[in-house]
Amino acid sequence: MKDNERFISEIASLIGSGRLAYVRSFGCQLNVSDGEKIKGVLKRAGYGFTEDESLADLIILNTCAVRESAEDRVFGIVGSMKKLKEQKPGLIIGIAGCMTAQSHIADKIKRSYPQVDIVLGTSAISALPELLLGALKGKGFGEDITEYDDFSGAVEQVRESSFKASVPIMFGCNNFCTYCIVPYVRGRERSRQPEDIIAEVTQLAKDGYREIMLLGQNVNSYGNDFRDGMTFPQLLRRLNEIPGDFIIRFMSSHPKDASPELIDAIFDCDKVAKHLHLPLQSGSSEVLRRMNRRYTFEKYMETVELIRSRDPGFSLTTDLIVGFPNETAEEFEETLNAVRQVKYDNIYSFIYSRRSGTKAAEMEDAVSEEEKGQRMRRLLEVQREVSTENYKRFVGRTLRVLADGTAKKRTGYLTGKSNEMIIVEFPGDESLIGQFVNVRITGSMNWAVTGEITEG
Ligand code: SAM
Ligand code: SF4
Ligand code: F3S
Repeated sequence: MKDNERFISEIASLIGSGRLAYVRSFGCQLNVSDGEKIKGVLKRAGYGFTEDESLADLIILNTCAVRESAEDRVFGIVGSMKKLKEQKPGLIIGIAGCMTAQSHIADKIKRSYPQVDIVLGTSAISALPELLLGALKGKGFGEDITEYDDFSGAVEQVRESSFKASVPIMFGCNNFCTYCIVPYVRGRERSRQPEDIIAEVTQLAKDGYREIMLLGQNVNSYGNDFRDGMTFPQLLRRLNEIPGDFIIRFMSSHPKDASPELIDAIFDCDKVAKHLHLPLQSGSSEVLRRMNRRYTFEKYMETVELIRSRDPGFSLTTDLIVGFPNETAEEFEETLNAVRQVKYDNIYSFIYSRRSGTKAAEMEDAVSEEEKGQRMRRLLEVQREVSTENYKRFVGRTLRVLADGTAKKRTGYLTGKSNEMIIVEFPGDESLIGQFVNVRITGSMNWAVTGEITEG
């Protein structure tokens, strides 16, 4: 165990007051949550925070490796920081997150980016104080990618929002979908103890948080690593009993493990959002087999039908990959048909990105990048048609919305998410941000609905 208290107080006395840190997280919400923990450590060491990297004395990039484009962005940013470092020689630059867990990337950082002082692994936030102290004392490059911590208990965090909080319930992934780097960079599944999660959510509710997002790569396998532990549906029921006015969301839910018990819990628990993110990835059972997703499209549809038999308008969203190696035109058509059939309220679609070290990286791929781009555009077109039609169902209804900011293009309007995860825009005062309001829906578009605040 590291003597972090000593390192932290040494840093605090070394840096004095007024030092600023810039921490930027890329990728999924689990990474954003890690970024909040990194900020928690830095706050204790005496740092303030800035959103402007040119003002920072310490820069930490918390990286994502899920697609090549995410890595390229980070390399671009680190490259541009060379100049910043020349202008401010005392500046410390650290790279954390999923990119550091791939040895060829870590080697590239060390070889080609001498401006980087610290490399920190995905489970090594507790090593940050020692590395930072070394860098402040001019000890040169420091790296620690050991798997130390998963923060089962409470950890000080500097949360991005004062009303929406992410709570990781598990770490890692066991699924090894053939395209995906996550199991290689985040290790095997480890569930947090239910008592720790319950205590954290109870505290967040007391602190006035209105949205609690439970996070895991596959929340449905929560507790599989406990001997007689709690399952995810049981955890939802337990969290639903915590007093307070808040909504519970979760992601991601792997379709192979989305059980009838999960669906019962969603309908039974008044605090659990009436929305399910159910990543399909492809509408073709043959592509799903090559992806190692371990469900067929027919099996996926059984879950969809079970949910929709209880609420025909139930909101579903999904992730889709376009252009998986050797995806045929017919297989892609099956994805378009799936989108039309399920009628998602929203999709998150990605062009397949080859990740070295994964099984799919070895697969032959005759589909051109141009063809993949065209398929992506068609998919987005079909989804636009689907959501234009879908969103009409809300007109005339009153939705409970958590106001979360001002609308970008309309002055005097606020934006928020309904219980069903639909974007809602409505006229309102900024003082309402962070509160639940009831909005009567009067109009719909293909990406949001609009309406007016009403009392009931
Ligand atoms: N664990 C979640 C699940 O199984 O649904 C997904 C987490 S992953 C960080 C988010 C999304 O990124 C995936 O659902 C998938 O659509 C996409 N993704 C992952 N690897 C990819 C790759 N190599 N190329 C393109 N998209 C990818
Ligand atoms: Fe990646 Fe599949 Fe694990 Fe999701 S379930 S993180 S897509 S390997
Ligand atoms: Fe990216 Fe790592 Fe998340 S690879 S998507 S930040 S788990």
